Amino acid sequence: MELHTPPRLHCHFALADDAATARLGAALAQAIEANADAIARCGLVIALSGELGSGKTALVRAALRRLGVTGLVRSPTFSLLELYSISRLNFYHFDFYRFSDAAEFAAAGFRDFFGPAAVCAIEWPERAGEQAFTTDLLIRMQVADSGRIADIDALTQVGQDCLNGLSRAWQTSPDAAC
Ligand SMILES: Nc1ncnc2c1ncn2[C@@H]1O[C@H](COP(=O)(O)OP(=O)(O)OP(=O)(O)O)[C@@H](O)[C@H]1O
Ligand SMILES: [Mg+2]
Repeated sequence: MELHTPPRLHCHFALADDAATARLGAALAQAIEANADAIARCGLVIALSGELGSGKTALVRAALRRLGVTGLVRSPTFSLLELYSISRLNFYHFDFYRFSDAAEFAAAGFRDFFGPAAVCAIEWPERAGEQAFTTDLLIRMQVADSGRIADIDALTQVGQDCLNGLSRAWQTSPDAAC
């Protein structure tokens, strides 16, 4: 995804294996918990870019586990949307891979899910078009050798607060590189 405004904060994470991706997801969950008041007021939009198999779903799944979801966490590749209730927040996990036209976002009525108390984690966000929503956190996943790289940009104040929280949580685990 192209950045049209300079990020307020950028962090880079080298994820050597599945366990590292799970740790980053857990750190994201801790940041969401720590900023729940702000998210209840204004919501949080997390755009997850990256090629097929780069770990977007794995990251979200780990975050949901840390947030207390115990049941099956399905990839939304076919359903487009999976919903979870997290304490007083609603967690919407979208995947727009199957959109062939950005107009499908509005046509599906997905705009109504964005807003106060909503955490929207979106795989293939670029397929909904540039104007579809305002991103707070942009997570770019890449395959690198046998592992993954995550580059995260905070684009808004709540995004910056969450990325600071994520970074603090990550630094309590080994292999920190931010
Ligand atoms: N740090 C890592 N190192 C190596 N493999 C990883 C790492 N993190 C995740 N994986 C593996 O990469 C794959 C990622 O699959 P995942 O479904 O999360 O990709 P995705 O980005 O959501 O793809 P899609 O665009 O098809 O939805 C899984 O098999 C997972 O085990
Ligand atoms: Mg996926």
